This record gives sequence, C-alpha cells and structure tokens, in this order.
Amino acid sequence: MERTLILVKPDGVQRGLIGEIIARFERRGLKLVGMKFIQMSKALAEEHYAVHKERPFYNSLVEYITSGPVVAMVWEGKDAIAAARATMGATNPVTAAPGTIRGDFGMEIGRNLVHGSDSPENAAKEVNLFFNEDELVDWNRVTDAWIRE
Ligand code: RTP
Ligand code: MG
Repeated sequence: MERTLILVKPDGVQRGLIGEIIARFERRGLKLVGMKFIQMSKALAEEHYAVHKERPFYNSLVEYITSGPVVAMVWEGKDAIAAARATMGATNPVTAAPGTIRGDFGMEIGRNLVHGSDSPENAAKEVNLFFNEDELVDWNRVTDAWIRE
C-alpha cells in the first residue's frame, strides 16, 4: 500500500473546487486516511518546496501556496502516487489531458490547482510534514473488494 499527500491549492479553494477535486480521488477508488483545512505558513511552504529552492519560480511558488488556505489530504491505495498524479494531469494545465483535474479546470502552470507527491520517498516526507501519525485514520472500507481483486 502506498500513501500520497495531495493538496487542493489556494486557487482550487478560492474557485470553489474543493468538492469537485476530492470527488475525483474518491470516485477513482483511492482511500482517504487524513484531511485538514489549513493556512500554510511560509516556513511550511519553504520546507514542502525545498527541492525547488534553486528554481527561478521558487519564490512565486511559495507565495502562491501561502496565498490562501489549502486542503491537505492523505490518500492510500496500491500505486496511490501514480494513480493520483494521473488523475491530476500534467503539471502544465495547457498540456494536461481533458478529464484530468488540471486539464479540466486549469489554464496556467502557476495556477494548477493540486499538488501530489511524486515518489514514495517524497510522499513519506510530505505526509509527515503535514500530519501527525494520530491524525491518520486506519479504517476498513466496505467497497474495497469491489475496487481491488
Ligand atoms: P506538484 O509538485 O505541485 O504536484 O506539481 P508537479 O510535481 O507536477 O510539478 P513540480 O515540477 O514538482 O513543480 C511544483 C510546482 O511548481 C510550479 N511550477 N511552476 N513556472 C514554472 O515553470 C513552474 N514549474 C513548476 C507548479 O505549480 C508546480 O505544480
Ligand atoms: Mg512535484
């Protein structure tokens, strides 16, 4: 089982797309194990995006992700990281496939609505950055047998 950290970024919140975005992960069959609505601090944003520190867009990225509240979630499932990223679509919404979150709702890379972890190592780091262990719920979902054989 994999876990991945998903954020509905401030543009997704401001545009009233929280439910629409969550529904896509939920309907796909990923299992929600943690969720919170938070205003990210600059320190949290800088740590979350530390891998991009040397990139030219780093400052605007930190500004964007702290510009309003976000929904932070942990979704679980086999291949959860790849499945979530496929549901999100390509980083640049202009080239993201229709049917994906970014392809259906986005127009620019700097307003691409969602974040999803990109590897098991980064997922573990990001989940720990946003959640304490006691904030993650271990639960049995009755539909699991109809989603996984
Ligand atoms: P994310 O981390 O948000 O899930 O997105 P990603 O893996 O698809 O993209 P990544 O390369 O990790 O970039 C992180 C975020 O930085 C912004 N970005 N801007 N102006 C640019 O060229 C540029 N490149 C990336 C995007 O908001 C991207 O999601
Ligand atoms: Mg990334």
